Amino acid sequence: MNTKNLYIETYGCQMNFSDSEVVASILEKDGYVLTDDIKSADVIFVNTCSIRDNAERRVRNRIQEFKSLKNRKPGLKIGILGCMAERISEKLLVEEKFVDIVAGPDSYRDLPKLIEETGDGRQMANVVLSLEETYADIEPVRLDKNGVSAFISIMRGCDNYCAYCVVPFTRGHERSRDPQSILKEAIDLKKKGYKEITLLGQNVNSYNYKDSYGEVNFAELMRRVAAIDSDIRIRFSTSHPKDISDELIETIAKTDNICNSIHLPVQSGSSSNLKRMKRFYTREWYLNRIDKIKSMIPDCGLSTDIIAGYCGETEEEHQETLSLMRMVNYDYAFMFKYSERPDTLAAKKYPDDVPEDVKSRRLQEIINVQQVSSHNNNLKDVGKTFRVLVDNVSKRSKEQMSGRTDQNKVMVFDRKDCKLGDYVMVKCTSCTAATLKGEIVV
Ligand code: SAH
Ligand code: SF4
Ligand code: F3S
Repeated sequence: MNTKNLYIETYGCQMNFSDSEVVASILEKDGYVLTDDIKSADVIFVNTCSIRDNAERRVRNRIQEFKSLKNRKPGLKIGILGCMAERISEKLLVEEKFVDIVAGPDSYRDLPKLIEETGDGRQMANVVLSLEETYADIEPVRLDKNGVSAFISIMRGCDNYCAYCVVPFTRGHERSRDPQSILKEAIDLKKKGYKEITLLGQNVNSYNYKDSYGEVNFAELMRRVAAIDSDIRIRFSTSHPKDISDELIETIAKTDNICNSIHLPVQSGSSSNLKRMKRFYTREWYLNRIDKIKSMIPDCGLSTDIIAGYCGETEEEHQETLSLMRMVNYDYAFMFKYSERPDTLAAKKYPDDVPEDVKSRRLQEIINVQQVSSHNNNLKDVGKTFRVLVDNVSKRSKEQMSGRTDQNKVMVFDRKDCKLGDYVMVKCTSCTAATLKGEIVV
Protein backbone atom coordinates (compact mmCIF):
# COMPACT_ATOMS: atom_id res chain seq x y z
CA MET A 1 0.00 0.00 0.00
CA ASN A 2 1.27 3.49 -0.85
CA THR A 3 1.59 5.60 2.26
CA LYS A 4 -0.49 8.71 2.33
CA ASN A 5 0.19 11.76 4.42
CA LEU A 6 -2.34 13.19 6.83
CA TYR A 7 -2.19 16.72 8.20
CA ILE A 8 -4.53 17.69 11.07
CA GLU A 9 -5.14 21.20 12.37
CA THR A 10 -7.21 21.57 15.55
CA TYR A 11 -9.19 24.48 16.99
CA GLY A 12 -11.33 24.83 20.11
CA CYS A 13 -11.26 23.05 23.42
CA GLN A 14 -9.08 20.29 24.76
CA MET A 15 -11.77 17.78 23.90
CA ASN A 16 -11.32 18.64 20.27
CA PHE A 17 -7.57 18.07 20.61
CA SER A 18 -8.29 14.67 22.13
CA ASP A 19 -10.66 13.90 19.27
CA SER A 20 -7.89 14.71 16.79
CA GLU A 21 -5.80 12.03 18.53
CA VAL A 22 -8.65 9.57 17.96
CA VAL A 23 -8.88 10.63 14.31
CA ALA A 24 -5.13 10.19 13.90
CA SER A 25 -5.38 6.70 15.37
CA ILE A 26 -8.25 5.66 13.07
CA LEU A 27 -6.38 6.87 9.99
CA GLU A 28 -3.01 5.41 11.00
CA LYS A 29 -4.72 2.02 11.12
CA ASP A 30 -5.88 2.76 7.59
CA GLY A 31 -2.30 3.31 6.40
CA TYR A 32 -1.93 7.07 6.78
CA VAL A 33 1.18 8.73 8.18
CA LEU A 34 0.91 11.95 10.16
CA THR A 35 2.82 14.94 8.84
CA ASP A 36 3.56 18.43 10.15
CA ASP A 37 4.14 19.67 6.63
CA ILE A 38 0.88 20.75 5.08
CA LYS A 39 2.39 20.86 1.58
CA SER A 40 3.15 17.14 1.65
CA ALA A 41 -0.36 16.21 2.78
CA ASP A 42 -2.71 14.00 0.77
CA VAL A 43 -5.50 14.65 3.24
CA ILE A 44 -5.99 17.80 5.32
CA PHE A 45 -8.39 17.71 8.25
CA VAL A 46 -9.45 20.79 10.17
CA ASN A 47 -11.08 19.98 13.49
CA THR A 48 -13.26 22.99 14.20
CA CYS A 49 -15.00 24.86 17.05
CA SER A 50 -18.32 26.72 17.11
CA ILE A 51 -18.33 28.09 20.62
CA ARG A 52 -18.24 31.77 19.57
CA ASP A 53 -18.78 33.48 16.25
CA ASN A 54 -15.13 34.56 16.01
CA ALA A 55 -14.01 30.91 16.40
CA GLU A 56 -16.03 30.02 13.33
CA ARG A 57 -14.91 33.05 11.34
CA ARG A 58 -11.28 32.20 12.00
CA VAL A 59 -11.74 28.72 10.54
CA ARG A 60 -13.69 29.98 7.53
CA ASN A 61 -10.77 32.31 6.74
CA ARG A 62 -8.17 29.63 7.33
CA ILE A 63 -9.76 27.07 5.02
CA GLN A 64 -9.68 29.54 2.13
CA GLU A 65 -5.90 29.09 2.21
CA PHE A 66 -6.38 25.39 1.37
CA LYS A 67 -8.04 26.28 -1.91
CA SER A 68 -4.75 27.25 -3.55
CA LEU A 69 -3.08 24.11 -2.16
CA LYS A 70 -5.77 22.06 -3.83
CA ASN A 71 -5.38 23.91 -7.13
CA ARG A 72 -1.74 22.91 -7.12
CA LYS A 73 -2.42 19.32 -6.03
CA PRO A 74 -5.77 18.18 -7.45
CA GLY A 75 -5.82 14.82 -5.62
CA LEU A 76 -5.64 16.56 -2.24
CA LYS A 77 -8.67 15.89 -0.05
CA ILE A 78 -9.92 18.39 2.49
CA GLY A 79 -12.13 17.50 5.43
CA ILE A 80 -13.89 19.70 7.96
CA LEU A 81 -14.44 17.90 11.26
CA GLY A 82 -15.77 18.79 14.68
CA CYS A 83 -18.38 21.17 16.01
CA MET A 84 -18.62 23.49 13.01
CA ALA A 85 -18.96 20.54 10.69
CA GLU A 86 -21.85 19.38 12.84
CA ARG A 87 -23.49 22.79 13.08
CA ILE A 88 -23.30 24.01 9.50
CA SER A 89 -22.60 20.94 7.39
CA GLU A 90 -24.97 21.94 4.56
CA LYS A 91 -23.63 25.46 4.37
CA LEU A 92 -20.03 24.23 4.24
CA LEU A 93 -20.80 21.78 1.45
CA VAL A 94 -22.58 24.41 -0.60
CA GLU A 95 -20.35 27.41 0.04
CA GLU A 96 -16.94 25.69 0.08
CA LYS A 97 -16.96 23.57 -3.05
CA PHE A 98 -13.32 22.55 -2.57
CA VAL A 99 -14.20 20.81 0.72
CA ASP A 100 -14.51 17.05 0.17
CA ILE A 101 -15.57 15.75 3.56
CA VAL A 102 -17.70 17.07 6.41
CA ALA A 103 -17.73 14.85 9.51
CA GLY A 104 -19.30 15.53 12.89
CA PRO A 105 -17.76 14.51 16.24
CA ASP A 106 -19.46 11.10 16.40
CA SER A 107 -18.62 9.89 12.89
CA TYR A 108 -14.85 9.61 12.94
CA ARG A 109 -14.85 5.83 12.55
CA ASP A 110 -16.40 6.51 9.18
CA LEU A 111 -13.54 8.73 7.95
CA PRO A 112 -11.59 6.11 5.93
CA LYS A 113 -14.77 5.27 4.05
CA LEU A 114 -15.66 8.93 3.52
CA ILE A 115 -12.19 9.62 2.11
CA GLU A 116 -12.50 6.61 -0.17
CA GLU A 117 -15.83 7.73 -1.56
CA THR A 118 -14.91 11.33 -2.35
CA GLY A 119 -13.02 12.65 -5.34
CA ASP A 120 -13.66 14.43 -8.64
CA GLY A 121 -15.83 16.99 -6.90
CA ARG A 122 -17.93 14.39 -5.07
CA GLN A 123 -18.52 15.55 -1.51
CA MET A 124 -19.32 13.25 1.43
CA ALA A 125 -20.81 14.07 4.81
CA ASN A 126 -21.66 12.23 8.01
CA VAL A 127 -22.97 14.36 10.84
CA VAL A 128 -25.10 11.77 12.62
CA LEU A 129 -24.83 12.18 16.39
CA SER A 130 -24.77 9.06 18.52
CA LEU A 131 -26.14 8.11 21.91
CA GLU A 132 -23.39 5.55 22.51
CA GLU A 133 -20.16 6.47 20.71
CA THR A 134 -17.30 7.12 23.15
CA TYR A 135 -14.42 5.77 21.01
CA ALA A 136 -13.65 3.69 24.11
CA ASP A 137 -11.67 1.00 22.27
CA ILE A 138 -9.54 3.40 20.23
CA GLU A 139 -6.04 3.99 21.46
CA PRO A 140 -5.37 7.65 20.67
CA VAL A 141 -2.16 8.65 18.91
CA ARG A 142 -0.58 11.24 21.22
CA LEU A 143 -0.18 14.47 19.27
CA ASP A 144 1.31 16.46 22.16
CA LYS A 145 4.98 17.09 21.87
CA ASN A 146 6.22 16.98 25.46
CA GLY A 147 5.43 13.39 26.44
CA VAL A 148 4.69 14.58 30.00
CA SER A 149 0.99 15.42 30.18
CA ALA A 150 -1.84 13.73 28.35
CA PHE A 151 -5.61 14.00 28.25
CA ILE A 152 -8.19 11.25 28.50
CA SER A 153 -11.69 11.90 27.30
CA ILE A 154 -14.00 10.25 29.86
CA MET A 155 -17.34 11.31 28.45
CA ARG A 156 -18.87 13.02 25.44
CA GLY A 157 -21.69 15.44 24.79
CA CYS A 158 -23.62 17.60 27.21
CA ASP A 159 -27.20 17.61 28.47
CA ASN A 160 -27.12 20.87 30.34
CA TYR A 161 -28.34 23.16 27.59
CA CYS A 162 -27.05 26.37 29.15
CA ALA A 163 -29.04 29.00 27.27
CA TYR A 164 -26.04 30.59 25.50
CA CYS A 165 -24.16 27.42 24.56
CA VAL A 166 -23.89 25.58 21.26
CA VAL A 167 -22.17 22.45 22.61
CA PRO A 168 -25.29 20.28 23.20
CA PHE A 169 -26.19 20.90 19.55
CA THR A 170 -22.76 20.09 18.16
CA ARG A 171 -21.79 17.22 20.45
CA GLY A 172 -25.10 15.62 21.25
CA HIS A 173 -26.24 13.90 24.41
CA GLU A 174 -24.05 13.20 27.36
CA ARG A 175 -22.60 9.71 27.64
CA SER A 176 -19.94 8.27 29.95
CA ARG A 177 -17.18 6.01 28.79
CA ASP A 178 -16.56 2.55 30.24
CA PRO A 179 -14.23 3.01 33.25
CA GLN A 180 -12.24 -0.12 32.30
CA SER A 181 -11.23 1.48 29.00
CA ILE A 182 -10.28 4.70 30.81
CA LEU A 183 -8.07 2.80 33.26
CA LYS A 184 -6.49 0.86 30.39
CA GLU A 185 -5.64 4.12 28.64
CA ALA A 186 -4.20 5.57 31.86
CA ILE A 187 -2.01 2.48 32.42
CA ASP A 188 -0.82 2.76 28.84
CA LEU A 189 0.14 6.40 29.46
CA LYS A 190 2.07 5.36 32.56
CA LYS A 191 3.98 2.79 30.50
CA LYS A 192 4.83 5.50 27.99
CA GLY A 193 6.27 7.64 30.79
CA TYR A 194 3.55 10.29 31.10
CA LYS A 195 3.43 12.04 34.46
CA GLU A 196 0.19 13.98 34.31
CA ILE A 197 -3.28 12.90 33.19
CA THR A 198 -6.23 15.25 32.75
CA LEU A 199 -9.67 13.66 32.67
CA LEU A 200 -11.86 15.50 30.20
CA GLY A 201 -15.55 16.14 29.73
CA GLN A 202 -17.92 19.10 29.41
CA ASN A 203 -19.16 18.37 32.91
CA VAL A 204 -17.04 15.67 34.49
CA ASN A 205 -18.99 15.78 37.77
CA SER A 206 -21.91 14.08 36.11
CA TYR A 207 -19.76 11.16 34.93
CA ASN A 208 -21.71 8.01 35.70
CA TYR A 209 -21.25 4.56 34.27
CA LYS A 210 -23.54 1.67 35.09
CA ASP A 211 -23.20 -1.93 34.05
CA SER A 212 -23.70 -5.37 35.55
CA TYR A 213 -20.64 -4.84 37.78
CA GLY A 214 -22.18 -1.76 39.40
CA GLU A 215 -22.02 1.99 39.16
CA VAL A 216 -19.00 4.30 38.97
CA ASN A 217 -19.32 8.04 39.63
CA PHE A 218 -16.68 10.70 38.99
CA ALA A 219 -15.14 10.67 42.47
CA GLU A 220 -14.76 6.88 42.27
CA LEU A 221 -13.29 7.08 38.76
CA MET A 222 -10.72 9.63 39.94
CA ARG A 223 -9.77 7.47 42.91
CA ARG A 224 -9.23 4.51 40.57
CA VAL A 225 -7.15 6.48 38.08
CA ALA A 226 -5.13 8.08 40.88
CA ALA A 227 -4.40 4.65 42.40
CA ILE A 228 -2.53 3.53 39.26
CA ASP A 229 0.64 5.38 40.25
CA SER A 230 1.15 7.91 43.03
CA ASP A 231 3.81 9.59 40.88
CA ILE A 232 1.27 10.51 38.20
CA ARG A 233 -0.70 13.69 38.75
CA ILE A 234 -4.40 13.70 38.04
CA ARG A 235 -6.32 16.77 36.88
CA PHE A 236 -9.82 17.19 35.48
CA SER A 237 -11.73 19.64 33.37
CA THR A 238 -14.36 20.98 33.58
CA SER A 239 -16.85 21.00 36.42
CA HIS A 240 -20.33 22.43 36.50
CA PRO A 241 -20.89 24.19 39.84
CA LYS A 242 -24.35 22.67 40.24
CA ASP A 243 -22.82 19.19 40.44
CA ILE A 244 -19.65 19.70 42.49
CA SER A 245 -20.30 17.37 45.39
CA ASP A 246 -18.78 17.24 48.87
CA GLU A 247 -17.63 13.71 48.01
CA LEU A 248 -15.62 15.04 45.07
CA ILE A 249 -14.06 17.87 47.10
CA GLU A 250 -13.17 15.39 49.85
CA THR A 251 -11.64 13.01 47.31
CA ILE A 252 -9.42 15.80 45.98
CA ALA A 253 -8.48 16.81 49.53
CA LYS A 254 -7.62 13.26 50.59
CA THR A 255 -5.80 11.99 47.50
CA ASP A 256 -2.25 13.30 47.25
CA ASN A 257 -1.80 12.90 43.52
CA ILE A 258 -5.12 14.51 42.57
CA CYS A 259 -4.03 18.10 42.03
CA ASN A 260 -5.30 20.83 44.29
CA SER A 261 -6.70 22.84 41.45
CA ILE A 262 -10.32 23.27 40.42
CA HIS A 263 -11.68 24.93 37.32
CA LEU A 264 -15.23 25.96 38.24
CA PRO A 265 -16.79 28.13 35.52
CA VAL A 266 -19.11 30.66 37.13
CA GLN A 267 -20.13 32.59 33.95
CA SER A 268 -21.74 35.37 36.01
CA GLY A 269 -21.87 36.53 39.61
CA SER A 270 -25.52 37.52 39.42
CA SER A 271 -28.32 35.08 40.32
CA SER A 272 -30.79 36.74 37.95
CA ASN A 273 -28.29 36.55 35.07
CA LEU A 274 -27.49 32.93 35.94
CA LYS A 275 -31.19 32.18 35.79
CA ARG A 276 -31.42 33.60 32.26
CA MET A 277 -28.34 31.53 31.41
CA LYS A 278 -30.07 28.39 32.71
CA ARG A 279 -27.14 27.50 34.88
CA PHE A 280 -29.29 26.09 37.72
CA TYR A 281 -27.30 27.60 40.60
CA THR A 282 -27.31 30.95 42.35
CA ARG A 283 -24.52 33.28 43.42
CA GLU A 284 -25.02 32.02 46.99
CA TRP A 285 -24.79 28.36 45.98
CA TYR A 286 -21.60 29.05 44.04
CA LEU A 287 -20.00 30.95 46.92
CA ASN A 288 -20.99 28.14 49.28
CA ARG A 289 -19.17 25.63 47.03
CA ILE A 290 -16.11 27.90 46.99
CA ASP A 291 -16.20 28.15 50.81
CA LYS A 292 -16.37 24.38 51.03
CA ILE A 293 -13.39 24.03 48.66
CA LYS A 294 -11.36 26.62 50.57
CA SER A 295 -12.09 24.99 53.93
CA MET A 296 -11.31 21.44 52.74
CA ILE A 297 -8.36 22.32 50.46
CA PRO A 298 -6.81 25.54 51.79
CA ASP A 299 -4.15 25.83 49.06
CA CYS A 300 -6.48 24.99 46.18
CA GLY A 301 -5.84 26.75 42.86
CA LEU A 302 -9.09 28.20 41.51
CA SER A 303 -9.95 29.21 37.99
CA THR A 304 -13.13 30.06 36.11
CA ASP A 305 -14.86 31.11 32.89
CA ILE A 306 -16.80 34.37 32.68
CA ILE A 307 -19.09 35.77 30.01
CA ALA A 308 -19.39 39.56 29.74
CA GLY A 309 -22.50 41.26 28.36
CA TYR A 310 -24.94 38.34 28.24
CA CYS A 311 -28.51 39.07 27.07
CA GLY A 312 -30.23 41.58 29.30
CA GLU A 313 -27.22 41.99 31.60
CA THR A 314 -27.69 45.16 33.65
CA GLU A 315 -24.95 47.28 35.13
CA GLU A 316 -25.87 45.95 38.60
CA GLU A 317 -25.58 42.35 37.40
CA HIS A 318 -22.19 43.12 35.90
CA GLN A 319 -21.09 44.70 39.21
CA GLU A 320 -22.16 41.49 40.96
CA THR A 321 -19.81 39.54 38.70
CA LEU A 322 -16.94 41.87 39.63
CA SER A 323 -17.76 41.56 43.34
CA LEU A 324 -17.95 37.75 43.16
CA MET A 325 -14.57 37.69 41.41
CA ARG A 326 -13.08 39.77 44.23
CA MET A 327 -14.61 37.48 46.85
CA VAL A 328 -13.41 34.24 45.26
CA ASN A 329 -10.05 35.69 44.28
CA TYR A 330 -9.39 33.37 41.32
CA ASP A 331 -5.88 32.49 40.22
CA TYR A 332 -6.88 32.45 36.58
CA ALA A 333 -9.91 33.14 34.39
CA PHE A 334 -10.95 32.65 30.78
CA MET A 335 -13.03 35.72 29.94
CA PHE A 336 -15.26 36.18 26.91
CA LYS A 337 -17.72 38.61 25.37
CA TYR A 338 -21.12 37.02 24.87
CA SER A 339 -21.53 35.78 21.30
CA GLU A 340 -25.00 34.76 20.17
CA ARG A 341 -25.15 31.22 18.79
CA PRO A 342 -27.96 30.22 16.43
CA ASP A 343 -30.54 27.68 17.73
CA THR A 344 -29.64 28.15 21.40
CA LEU A 345 -32.35 29.10 23.86
CA ALA A 346 -30.79 32.52 24.32
CA ALA A 347 -30.88 33.18 20.57
CA LYS A 348 -34.56 32.27 20.49
CA LYS A 349 -35.72 33.90 23.69
CA TYR A 350 -33.50 36.84 24.60
CA PRO A 351 -32.28 39.67 22.39
CA ASP A 352 -28.51 40.13 22.28
CA ASP A 353 -29.10 43.64 23.61
CA VAL A 354 -25.91 44.73 25.39
CA PRO A 355 -24.23 47.17 22.96
CA GLU A 356 -20.81 46.14 21.66
CA ASP A 357 -19.01 49.03 23.36
CA VAL A 358 -20.62 48.16 26.70
CA LYS A 359 -19.65 44.49 26.28
CA SER A 360 -16.07 45.56 25.58
CA ARG A 361 -15.95 47.86 28.58
CA ARG A 362 -17.38 45.21 30.92
CA LEU A 363 -14.98 42.59 29.61
CA GLN A 364 -12.09 44.97 30.22
CA GLU A 365 -13.27 45.59 33.79
CA ILE A 366 -13.48 41.83 34.35
CA ILE A 367 -9.95 41.39 32.95
CA ASN A 368 -8.68 44.19 35.20
CA VAL A 369 -10.13 42.60 38.35
CA GLN A 370 -8.63 39.24 37.36
CA GLN A 371 -5.25 40.80 36.71
CA VAL A 372 -5.17 42.17 40.26
CA SER A 373 -6.26 38.83 41.79
CA SER A 374 -3.74 36.83 39.77
CA HIS A 375 -0.92 39.16 40.72
CA ASN A 376 -1.85 39.30 44.41
CA ASN A 377 -2.18 35.52 44.60
CA ASN A 378 1.18 35.07 42.91
CA LEU A 379 2.81 37.57 45.30
CA LYS A 380 1.64 35.38 48.20
CA ASP A 381 3.57 32.48 46.64
CA VAL A 382 6.90 34.33 46.68
CA GLY A 383 9.16 32.71 49.29
CA LYS A 384 7.27 29.38 49.23
CA THR A 385 8.62 26.15 47.76
CA PHE A 386 6.55 24.10 45.30
CA ARG A 387 6.81 20.64 43.77
CA VAL A 388 6.85 21.35 40.07
CA LEU A 389 6.41 18.91 37.19
CA VAL A 390 8.79 20.02 34.43
CA ASP A 391 6.84 20.12 31.18
CA ASN A 392 8.42 22.73 28.95
CA VAL A 393 11.61 24.35 27.78
CA SER A 394 11.11 28.10 28.19
CA LYS A 395 10.35 29.96 24.98
CA ARG A 396 12.78 32.75 25.77
CA SER A 397 15.89 30.82 26.70
CA LYS A 398 16.99 27.20 26.35
CA GLU A 399 18.68 27.58 29.73
CA GLN A 400 15.30 27.92 31.36
CA MET A 401 12.62 25.31 31.93
CA SER A 402 9.08 25.66 33.10
CA GLY A 403 6.53 23.47 34.77
CA ARG A 404 3.35 23.60 36.77
CA THR A 405 2.70 23.59 40.46
CA ASP A 406 0.01 21.37 41.95
CA GLN A 407 -2.23 24.46 41.81
CA ASN A 408 -1.67 24.63 38.04
CA LYS A 409 0.47 27.77 38.10
CA VAL A 410 3.33 28.11 35.64
CA MET A 411 6.77 28.33 37.27
CA VAL A 412 9.89 29.30 35.30
CA PHE A 413 13.37 28.41 36.60
CA ASP A 414 16.97 27.81 35.52
CA ARG A 415 17.43 24.39 34.00
CA LYS A 416 20.27 23.04 36.22
CA ASP A 417 20.25 19.33 35.37
CA CYS A 418 16.53 18.61 35.27
CA LYS A 419 14.67 17.28 32.26
CA LEU A 420 11.11 17.09 30.98
CA GLY A 421 8.97 14.86 33.17
CA ASP A 422 11.03 15.37 36.36
CA TYR A 423 9.51 16.58 39.58
CA VAL A 424 11.64 19.32 41.12
CA MET A 425 11.31 21.42 44.26
CA VAL A 426 11.34 25.08 43.26
CA LYS A 427 11.45 28.06 45.59
CA CYS A 428 9.48 30.98 44.21
CA THR A 429 11.61 34.13 44.17
CA SER A 430 9.51 36.58 42.14
CA CYS A 431 6.40 36.77 40.00
CA THR A 432 4.30 38.59 37.43
CA ALA A 433 0.52 38.31 37.16
CA ALA A 434 1.00 35.44 34.71
CA THR A 435 3.94 33.40 36.01
CA LEU A 436 6.01 32.51 39.02
CA LYS A 437 9.80 32.56 38.80
CA GLY A 438 11.99 30.50 41.06
CA GLU A 439 15.09 28.44 41.75
CA ILE A 440 15.48 24.72 42.10
CA VAL A 441 16.28 23.80 45.70
CA VAL A 442 17.55 20.43 46.79
N1 SAH B 1 -18.67 22.74 29.71
C1 SAH B 1 -17.96 23.83 30.22
C2 SAH B 1 -17.74 24.96 29.24
C3 SAH B 1 -17.42 24.67 27.83
S1 SAH B 1 -17.39 26.03 26.76
C4 SAH B 1 -18.75 24.39 31.38
O1 SAH B 1 -19.95 24.31 31.42
O2 SAH B 1 -18.14 24.95 32.22
C5 SAH B 1 -16.12 27.05 27.49
C6 SAH B 1 -16.59 28.39 27.86
O3 SAH B 1 -16.95 29.14 26.73
C7 SAH B 1 -17.82 28.45 28.74
O4 SAH B 1 -17.55 28.19 30.06
C8 SAH B 1 -18.29 29.88 28.53
O5 SAH B 1 -17.67 30.75 29.43
C9 SAH B 1 -17.81 30.19 27.13
N2 SAH B 1 -18.95 30.28 26.20
C10 SAH B 1 -19.80 29.30 25.86
N3 SAH B 1 -20.73 29.77 25.00
C11 SAH B 1 -20.46 31.08 24.81
C12 SAH B 1 -21.07 32.12 24.06
N4 SAH B 1 -22.14 31.90 23.33
N5 SAH B 1 -20.50 33.36 24.08
C13 SAH B 1 -19.41 33.58 24.83
N6 SAH B 1 -18.80 32.65 25.57
C14 SAH B 1 -19.32 31.41 25.57
FE1 SF4 C 1 -22.17 24.41 27.29
FE2 SF4 C 1 -23.34 24.47 29.64
FE3 SF4 C 1 -22.77 22.13 28.52
FE4 SF4 C 1 -20.82 23.69 29.44
S1 SF4 C 1 -22.41 22.72 30.66
S2 SF4 C 1 -20.87 22.65 27.48
S3 SF4 C 1 -21.57 25.74 29.02
S4 SF4 C 1 -24.24 23.63 27.77
FE1 F3S D 1 -15.65 24.36 20.60
FE2 F3S D 1 -16.94 22.15 20.28
FE3 F3S D 1 -15.13 22.35 22.17
S1 F3S D 1 -17.78 24.17 20.12
S2 F3S D 1 -15.27 24.49 22.74
S3 F3S D 1 -14.75 22.47 20.01
S4 F3S D 1 -16.99 21.16 22.25
